[in-house]
Amino acid sequence: MEHATEQRGDERSSGRAKLEWVHDRMPLLARLRDRYRAEKPFSGQRLSMSLHLEAKTAALAELLADGGAVVSITSSNPLSAQDDVAAALSERGVEVHARRGLDDVEFDRLQHRVLDIEPTLILDDGGELLSRLVTSRKSLAGGVRGGAEETTTGVTRIRALARDGRLPFAMIAVNDAAMKHLFDNRYGTGQSTWEGIMRACNTTVAGAQVVVAGYGYCGRGVAERARGLGAQVIVTEVDAVRANEAVMDGNRVMPMRDAVRTADFVVTTTGCRDVVRAEHLRLMKDGVVLANAGHFNVEVDVAWLEAQAVRRRPGRTPDVVGYTLADGRTRWVVAEGRLVNLAAGDGHPVEIMDMTFALQALSLEGLAKAVRPPGLYPVDGDIDRWVAQARLEAIGVAIDHLNRAQMRYLNSWDIA
Ligand SMILES: NC(=O)c1ccc[n+]([C@@H]2O[C@H](COP(=O)([O-])OP(=O)(O)OC[C@H]3O[C@@H](n4cnc5c(N)ncnc54)[C@H](O)[C@@H]3O)[C@@H](O)[C@H]2O)c1
Repeated sequence: MEHATEQRGDERSSGRAKLEWVHDRMPLLARLRDRYRAEKPFSGQRLSMSLHLEAKTAALAELLADGGAVVSITSSNPLSAQDDVAAALSERGVEVHARRGLDDVEFDRLQHRVLDIEPTLILDDGGELLSRLVTSRKSLAGGVRGGAEETTTGVTRIRALARDGRLPFAMIAVNDAAMKHLFDNRYGTGQSTWEGIMRACNTTVAGAQVVVAGYGYCGRGVAERARGLGAQVIVTEVDAVRANEAVMDGNRVMPMRDAVRTADFVVTTTGCRDVVRAEHLRLMKDGVVLANAGHFNVEVDVAWLEAQAVRRRPGRTPDVVGYTLADGRTRWVVAEGRLVNLAAGDGHPVEIMDMTFALQALSLEGLAKAVRPPGLYPVDGDIDRWVAQARLEAIGVAIDHLNRAQMRYLNSWDIA
């Protein structure tokens, strides 16, 4: 008992240290905190959050609570919650329902727990809360003014829901803001995906053959960082424009069945399902490392490996497992094929999440101030510009400004 109490104490102090670390490195949230503490724009609002619960997310939850919201949070992936951060956050006026390593039933139960506060606002990642609010928790949807969605896959789902006429309230596509996907998806996923893989495997990327599936914002970042680490990169795509871009960026492009034969690493970033299937897994060489950076664990067919393996081998950390097939070759899977940068790493670098979470906070503030009809909305241009300018100020970068003649010139059809 004494031991358990001591462990919880250690956990809390490690979580507090992580929170202090991010507070020092999130200048945009610090600016908002000063204003929110004075103005309390979320007073009277109940906010349910489903977002990877690590330190940067905890800083956002604290900020929104500082702004007057009642906040209840869970993690948006069964493996992404950090227990020490959860313990530290629950000391700071936020209701926390999260633990690392949940099974599907427990994960679902905690998504429901955060909805029990009967939210007026939601902050969602991959549509976890929204999908429950339009199905099993329909009765709560009428009380929700709106919400904000963090990732590409979630926005895709909201769009489908709106198309079917079933979106019950306003949702803001934070993912689609310029200051989000250009930096978070690209540079954030690029860096943190490799951090997760290297932490789990501790193998060399230089000189290795890396296959990146999908050349969207995340895929570009993952491929760019792999090239920077000295890898030879092969991209797979289903979109001809993106495939051309991958070629011109210096990658080789080919179908997955050709790409996987010599691969040392295969990283999926498509947001699509069944990207690495049995027909590909059969062809892979001994020692290949498979990881997924897309939102859901549907890109690599880990279930097929589980079923076919003649031997399941523990890796150097619990985050990597080997599947030896009857051909004697082992395929190593990082983090069960779940979002590798959060399940086997700490997620995106802190300065990037400062920008993303400033967009989240300001978008939610807009919804707290004014109700909008149901629909999918972009982030207001003013918010994107505020974040861009505030980030430049934080890093001490100045830019030029248009003078009157230049503005007239750029707004005129008569360029003579
Ligand atoms: N790991 C993270 O922290 C993180 C961060 C942001 C987004 N995401 C997730 O990553 C995924 C990708 O996001 P994005 O912003 O790059 O999306 P995107 O739409 O910009 O890119 C996806 C790319 O994959 C390609 N693609 C689709 N199906 C394919 C298939 N079967 N084979 C090969 N290519 C295919 C598409 O043509 C597109 O170019 C989404 O699930 C998103 O939610 C993860």
